[in-house]
Amino acid sequence: MAFSKEKVVPNMSNYQDYRREYEADGLRRQQLQADPWQQFRRWLAEAEQVCHHDATSMTLATADIDGRPAARIVLLKEFDEQGLVWYTDSRSDKGQQLAQNPHAALLFYWAPLERQVRITGTVDAVPEDAVDAYFLNRPRDSQISAAASPQSRIVANREALEQRVESLQTQIGDGPVTRPGAWIGYRLQPQSFEFWQGQPSRLHDRFRYQLTDSSWHIDRLAP
Ligand SMILES: Cc1cc2nc3c(=O)[nH]c(=O)nc-3n(C[C@H](O)[C@H](O)[C@H](O)COP(=O)(O)O)c2cc1C
Repeated sequence: MAFSKEKVVPNMSNYQDYRREYEADGLRRQQLQADPWQQFRRWLAEAEQVCHHDATSMTLATADIDGRPAARIVLLKEFDEQGLVWYTDSRSDKGQQLAQNPHAALLFYWAPLERQVRITGTVDAVPEDAVDAYFLNRPRDSQISAAASPQSRIVANREALEQRVESLQTQIGDGPVTRPGAWIGYRLQPQSFEFWQGQPSRLHDRFRYQLTDSSWHIDRLAP
């Protein structure tokens, strides 16, 4: 596989002059796995080679009941044919939106590979025992931050946040950190995957897998 170097016209005053040519190998139908999970697994493994920890960062898009969208990055922590899992605080905007509207989208962008993967589907909660197991596995400082953070509420300043952490540390001493009830896992079960490979002159390769009657149907899409 050929990896290209980014080419940017160095005129910082005009973004219209920014140009990047996509030069990686194309994606052809005969190279595709019939199962999008296998295709995803292959691309993620290739991304891990060049993006390291960032390979698993994904943009999560949600929308409230009125269709107002919001997007943010979360980290993929597990996946299998049941779905893709991340952990968060359900009091957050995303948690509130998902409570109103379980439809969501995930986006992976692996710049060095000139690839993106777009996934849409519906979201439900990860079982409590799996969330407990993951929480226990986190570094203690991260557990304390999660337990001390008044998720998404306005805080007066950094000191106020640190004060909450210190109070909790004093309170629990060397004891275990209890997982906050609001700190949970979500799993997106895909209805569609799109694999996008950047190509020269913007003639990109796109393949969409859609789940119909429990089998995956593949279409090439125009760029
Ligand atoms: C690289 C990166 C990884 C992140 N991972 C997570 C994550 O796994 N879970 C999470 O709740 N927030 C994560 N965040 C923070 C979110 O992007 C966001 O700020 C936070 O969850 C609040 O979002 P919300 O108010 O839209 O719900 C991450 C941010 C970045 C930049």
